[in-house]
Amino acid sequence: MKRRTFLAASAGAVTSALTGALGLPARAQPDRSLRDLAEARGLVFGAAAATYMLDQPDFVPVLRRQVRQLVPEYEMKRQFLEPRRGRYDFAALDRLFAFAAASRMSMRGHPLVWYASNPDWLEPALTARRDETLLTGHIQAVLGRYRGRMASVDVVNEAIAPDGRGLRPSPWLSAFGPGYLDTAFHAARAADPAVKLVYNDWGCEQGGPENDRFRATTLKLLDGLLARRVPVDALGLQGHLNAFQNRVDQRKLRLFLDEVRARGLAILITELDVYDGDGPADIAARDRAVADETRRFLDVALDNPATRAVLTWCLSDRHIDPPEEWRLKLTGFRHRKLPYDAQMRKKPMWDAIAQAFAGRRVP
Ligand code: G3I
Repeated sequence: MKRRTFLAASAGAVTSALTGALGLPARAQPDRSLRDLAEARGLVFGAAAATYMLDQPDFVPVLRRQVRQLVPEYEMKRQFLEPRRGRYDFAALDRLFAFAAASRMSMRGHPLVWYASNPDWLEPALTARRDETLLTGHIQAVLGRYRGRMASVDVVNEAIAPDGRGLRPSPWLSAFGPGYLDTAFHAARAADPAVKLVYNDWGCEQGGPENDRFRATTLKLLDGLLARRVPVDALGLQGHLNAFQNRVDQRKLRLFLDEVRARGLAILITELDVYDGDGPADIAARDRAVADETRRFLDVALDNPATRAVLTWCLSDRHIDPPEEWRLKLTGFRHRKLPYDAQMRKKPMWDAIAQAFAGRRVP
């Protein structure tokens, strides 16, 4: 029996013995938070949040209790930060940083350089003149303002093509070629010597042929950065999973994460959620499948000592974008991808994360 399985089983046995003896259902145990359970295993647990969520009185106490680190869902995206060239509006992002500081939370930044969520003026400006300060100036503006206040930052987000074949076409690639990644990481290191610099992407978790290509291209991208002595500290695995299709391939994922660790890089799970839209209408069945896929993924990810943090992409189903209009109207279907439901009740996914933390070998 693998040590993790033994640990989880024995933890489970102790728990059930305790709850059995006390006659308490599993949930009624002392209110251990994901934040505490993660810290006990040398991990950080966090979630994406947006400023509008901070005005929800039933949400904020749960966020403060459960989460050790925040990542802005969109307030750090350039379309919101710099709607007009050179005219930054940091008010919303400042509010998230202030909330985190007041709640004993750390912050991670997301993203600095991305093909999406850029202001309308950016692409025409890049096309008019390949001015590198359009890239480096933004990095300096953001990391300069929050210098020393981010634990990590996604310097470049989603640079790999969705089919895994090479780099994704983007305004940055068109203007500066593949070297835009090197330029971005060097500028980030110069702007903040302490923050962990992350390359963040999706597509490495599951078992399909496009995921095989994605993993190979990701390793090739990282090897290039490392060979050119580009300052990169960690790989961000977004962790957008699917409970019913193209599930996590634990063997392939384990081998891939071993390769990442062998390169001296840390691993962050940056945007964990589990899509349930391909499942049945039955909520209990979907919740079970979401929890099972969460556990299958985290058991492998947390077995790797290089894994430092797990963040979900929001904490409650309340904050998930609604499904397609027709589906909502026709069936009332709403996604259930996260640890808490829309009424802020714990779901089986919460237990799956808690059990995965409990089973983690302390590095
Ligand atoms: O707030 C404005 C509103 O004022 C305006 O009227 C409206 C008009 O379109 O836009 C609103 O902003 C939206 C924003 O979310 C806040 O809700 C943007 O349109 C919308 O594009 C933006 O979507 C975000 C998306 O990234 C694009 O930035 C999602 O919230 C966010 O969950 C999603 O997150 C991404 C990660 O950054 C990268 N990995 C994938 C992940 C999920 O798609």
